[in-house]
Amino acid sequence: YDVHNYTFVLGNANFERLCSSKSMLVVNGMFPGPNITVRKGDRAFVNVQNNGDYGVTIHWHGVKQPRNPWSDGPENITQCPIQPGKNFTQEVIFSTEEGTLWWHAHSDWSRATVHGAIIIKPENGTTYPYDQQPDEEVVIVLGEWFKGDVKELIDNATATGGDPTISDTYTINGQPGFPNNCSNETSYSLSVEFGKTYLLRIVNAVMNEEMFFGIAQHNITVVGQDGSYIKPISTDYIMITPGQTMDVLLTANQTPSYYYMAATPFFDSSAPFDSSNTSAILKYAGNYTAPSSPPYPSLPNVTDRDAADNFTTRVRSLASSEHPIDVPQEFDERIVITVSVNQLPCDQDSCDGPNGNRLAASLNNVSFVTPTIDILQAYYRNLSGNLSVYDDDFPGYPPFVFNYTGVSADEYLTPSQGTKVKMIDYGKKIEVVFQGTNIGNAENHPMHLHGFSFYLVGTGYGNFDNTTSPDGYNLSDPPEVNTIGVPKDGWAAIRFVADNPGVWFMHCHLERHASWGMDTVLIVRNGTTAETSMLPPPRNLPTCT
Ligand code: C2O
Ligand code: CU
Repeated sequence: YDVHNYTFVLGNANFERLCSSKSMLVVNGMFPGPNITVRKGDRAFVNVQNNGDYGVTIHWHGVKQPRNPWSDGPENITQCPIQPGKNFTQEVIFSTEEGTLWWHAHSDWSRATVHGAIIIKPENGTTYPYDQQPDEEVVIVLGEWFKGDVKELIDNATATGGDPTISDTYTINGQPGFPNNCSNETSYSLSVEFGKTYLLRIVNAVMNEEMFFGIAQHNITVVGQDGSYIKPISTDYIMITPGQTMDVLLTANQTPSYYYMAATPFFDSSAPFDSSNTSAILKYAGNYTAPSSPPYPSLPNVTDRDAADNFTTRVRSLASSEHPIDVPQEFDERIVITVSVNQLPCDQDSCDGPNGNRLAASLNNVSFVTPTIDILQAYYRNLSGNLSVYDDDFPGYPPFVFNYTGVSADEYLTPSQGTKVKMIDYGKKIEVVFQGTNIGNAENHPMHLHGFSFYLVGTGYGNFDNTTSPDGYNLSDPPEVNTIGVPKDGWAAIRFVADNPGVWFMHCHLERHASWGMDTVLIVRNGTTAETSMLPPPRNLPTCT
């Protein structure tokens, strides 16, 4: 394999969007940040130098990091933050991933401005496993722009217990596009030549919304998701949750002109969090008069659950002989996890949440409390006992049973709080069933697991029936992914083999839910040999002060 060296300098830089400017934390002066480009199985050493004002960590989303949780990055889970003026060289170990992933800050809400794409090409001498090899490749990052300082916004929201302020616009490759409230706004534009095929590497770096994306009058073909190949899906839109990445082929086969590409939110609720749009321009080369109003894609309505499902349920692993998959056909342990938005009593005179409470969120009715010493060091040094950095009694089943998707669940609004982790023996075949609930303001939850890709073997609406054998499961070509949307009135079941020893964060990738406590940690114990045990810690791992 090849070894790549990168330097990421975190620092403040000035940007102007929506007719106002601000200074914000970015990597190497860029928004979105730089790409990392490797081939399957390579390694990258990324020297992260923090020249910003506060401690930050960086996470390589979807990179499994075999035996190497040390460089995974979630703050106070696998490391303490890299303090201002300090650096940490992270070793990013690629294994079976191939396609597109991304990296982002994993501290507070810093990922709003600190993120970029990871491009993993096929091994030398191999090509993409689809008929049409792309002529060119382009990264498309869906993001958000906040006029205010994101750290202040989340600090204020935490202090008041209310919903954080929504962003001022969605962005494509850092640009708001049309329509927006600033007349001299810029758009990202992608220049194409008639007849050529482009591989769009699409990242959803949006903080709080699942998104639809499409290009006017162009069919696209989805060929990969979350760093693995899928059976090609020809479509005119995709639905992509925060955290997910998709590889999409676009052939420039329409009349040379300008066309809009656009992203709009999908929010399965009567009160969308932020229902504005963003766009970019697809610009054909050639001699023609630019249209004054190029065609705009017609994307599904913001609450169109059927449109979202119609896309999502088409996703299947490629599962070819060159790209085989290995779905556990049975499991050793099933972990059932309810996913809820809740409320906690206000710890001051009054809070901005419903009924004067503070907003909270939970898994199995436990609202996760982030510790101040990281769980990985505590585990590695066996500190858990008296220092009680964490408890290893995360419930493997919901603490109580009720009609999860029924409407009258107010008595379940208040979760317990704690830093509870789930211990798993090396090599066990695990099934996790995420059960959505209708507690509080229900919505879909893009659940993400670090350290693994897993198979989405089933989803359904209603309450998961734990007593029956899973007849409707797809155990032959389910998608192999790292982030899945759990429907608000339903459930999703995943399977994986716990063959990666370490401390792995699992959480909702909607940032406000993650900050309210919709998180837990899976600790996979070492196996019996050195090759099935965690690597030793790197020498310049940031320490907790
Ligand atoms: Cu994309 Cu825990 O992260
Ligand atoms: Cu969520």
